[in-house]
Amino acid sequence: MTRRNVVRDTLFATIALALLSVFGLCACNAKKAPPPEARAPAVQPVKIGVIAEFSGPFADYGKNIENGMRTYLKLHGDTYAGRKVELIVRDTTGPAPDVAKRLAQELLTRDKVDFLAGFGLTPNAMAVAPLSSEAKKPMIVMNAAASTITTKSPYVARVSMTLPQVTAPMAEWAAKNGIKKVYVLVADYAPGLDAQDVFKKAFTAAGGQIVDSVRVPLRNPEFAPFLQRIKDAKPEAVFIFLPAGEQGIAFMKAFNERGLAKAGVKLIATGDLTDDHVLSAMGDPTLGLITTHHYSAAHDSPENKEFIKAYQEVSGGKRPNFMAVGGYDGMAAIAEVIKKLDGKLDGDKAMATLKGLKLASPRGPITIDPETRDIVQTVYVRRVQKVGDELYNSEFEQFPNVKDPGK
Ligand code: PHB
Repeated sequence: MTRRNVVRDTLFATIALALLSVFGLCACNAKKAPPPEARAPAVQPVKIGVIAEFSGPFADYGKNIENGMRTYLKLHGDTYAGRKVELIVRDTTGPAPDVAKRLAQELLTRDKVDFLAGFGLTPNAMAVAPLSSEAKKPMIVMNAAASTITTKSPYVARVSMTLPQVTAPMAEWAAKNGIKKVYVLVADYAPGLDAQDVFKKAFTAAGGQIVDSVRVPLRNPEFAPFLQRIKDAKPEAVFIFLPAGEQGIAFMKAFNERGLAKAGVKLIATGDLTDDHVLSAMGDPTLGLITTHHYSAAHDSPENKEFIKAYQEVSGGKRPNFMAVGGYDGMAAIAEVIKKLDGKLDGDKAMATLKGLKLASPRGPITIDPETRDIVQTVYVRRVQKVGDELYNSEFEQFPNVKDPGK
C-alpha cells in the first residue's frame, strides 16, 4: 500500500463515518419525537359567548351591541396576551328567558366559553345569571338595566347603566326646574318598575307630586288609550321609560296625535326614548325634549370621536347609540382582564380584576363599583337639538359619579 493510498482510504473512512453519524442522528431524532406534554401547547382563543336579541322587534339591540364589541376589536386589535378573541354570537329572538338560558348552557358546556356577554333585555340577563354562578364564568352585562341583575350572581359585572341611576337625576332636575305635577308611564317589567319607583321617590323627596302612574305591556303596547287617560288628568308633565327603539317612535306619534303637547303637557324621559339610533326616525316633534342618560353620540371627547368613526366603518355608516357603547366598553373590560391575567383565565381572578376597573369610555370616565360590580358614571341632562341637519341629544348639565341608587 502506497502512502497516497493510505491517505485516500483514511479520508474516505472519515467522510463515511461523518455521513453515517449525521444520518444516524437524524434517523434517531425522527424516531424519538418528544412526549406530547413536552410540546408547546397550541394557543387557544379566548371564547366570548354573546347572547343578545338579533331578531324580532328588539333585533337592533343585538346588532348594536355586537357592532360595539367589534369596534373595540377593530381599534385595539383582537389578540391579547397572545390569545385571539373569538365571538360566538347567539340570538335570543327577543325577551325569551328560556331561550337565553338554553343558549347559555350550550355555550358553557359545549363551546366552553370563557366569558358570557351581551344581554339587551333584563329578562334574558336574569335567566342566565344563575348559570354564570354555577359555571364560575364572568358575565358582562352590556345593556340590561334592572337594578337587581348584579345581585343574582357574583360573576356578573355591568358596563351599561341601571334604570334607577338614570331616572333619579331626571326627577331631581324636573323638580328643580319648576315641574310640580307628573304622571308616570313605564313598560310593565323589571326596569320599568325600577324607573317608576325611583322617579316617585326622588320626585316627591324633592317636593314634587305624582298625579298617577300606569304600566304598559312590554310587547306591542297600544299607547292611545293610556295617553287619553293622562291628558284627562291634566298633569304638568309625563315621565316615561320605554325600552329603546320602535316603541319610542310609536309613543311620540301617539303623544302628538292625541294633542298632549298642544294641551301644554311636557314630556320628560330617560334617554331610552330619544335613543340615537331612532332619533332621526322620530323627527322634529322631539325638538326640545329633555332626557337623562349616560351616553349621547353628541358627547364631546376625543374618545367619542374615535369611537364614532370606527363604529361607522364597522356598521356601514350608522350612528352609535348607548347599547353600542355598552358593547364597546364590555369588550374593553374583557380585554383588560385578559391582559392583566396574562391570558391565564380564571373566573374568580377575572372578577377580582373587574372590581374597581376604570375605563376611559366614549361616554366619559367609568368605574366598576368593587362592592356591587355595577357601573359608576356621569349621568347627563340632554336636550334634543338640531346640529346641522341632524337631531342630537345635546348634553347641557351633568350628575357626576352616580352609583346605582337602587342598591
Ligand atoms: C332592559 O330590558 O333592561 C332594557 C331594555 C331597553 C332599554 C333599557 C333597558 O332601553
